[in-house]
Amino acid sequence: MRAQLLDVPIIRDERGALISFESMLTLPFHLKRVYFLYDVTASRGFHAHKSLEQVAVCLKGSCEILLDDGVEQQNVVLNKSNVGLCIPRLTWREMHNFSADCILAILASENYCESDYIREYGDFLKEVKVAK
Ligand code: TYD
Repeated sequence: MRAQLLDVPIIRDERGALISFESMLTLPFHLKRVYFLYDVTASRGFHAHKSLEQVAVCLKGSCEILLDDGVEQQNVVLNKSNVGLCIPRLTWREMHNFSADCILAILASENYCESDYIREYGDFLKEVKVAK
């Protein structure tokens, strides 16, 4: 698989940096939810979503995101705030190796919905087969 990366425009001047996201402009979907991971001390994720689309942006520090579409895997290092990693629906993701200062922003196309999660890898592979 080839992970899709988005350019995140940074507006920087002598006062600092500003990043803005706009639905269907800097993001490939209508934004419904934003959440942040920080102070992370262990690997996270280990699930896929049935319909949720996400973009992950590492605002500070670094982390690694392993993406798996059921056929291929790709490990992406996120350590730049001008890069957004697209995480399509039906993509198994694992997040590893968070630096202590990492702040990971996740922009999501839907509100939080536990029934959209696929938390077992075997169930994920079954869903991928059905979708093909
Ligand atoms: P989870 O998605 O499992 O975290 P991660 O993928 O980072 O390991 O969510 C952890 C907990 O947080 C779980 O109880 C659900 C809750 N949660 C919300 O309430 N709202 C949210 O937007 C998210 C992403 C999680």
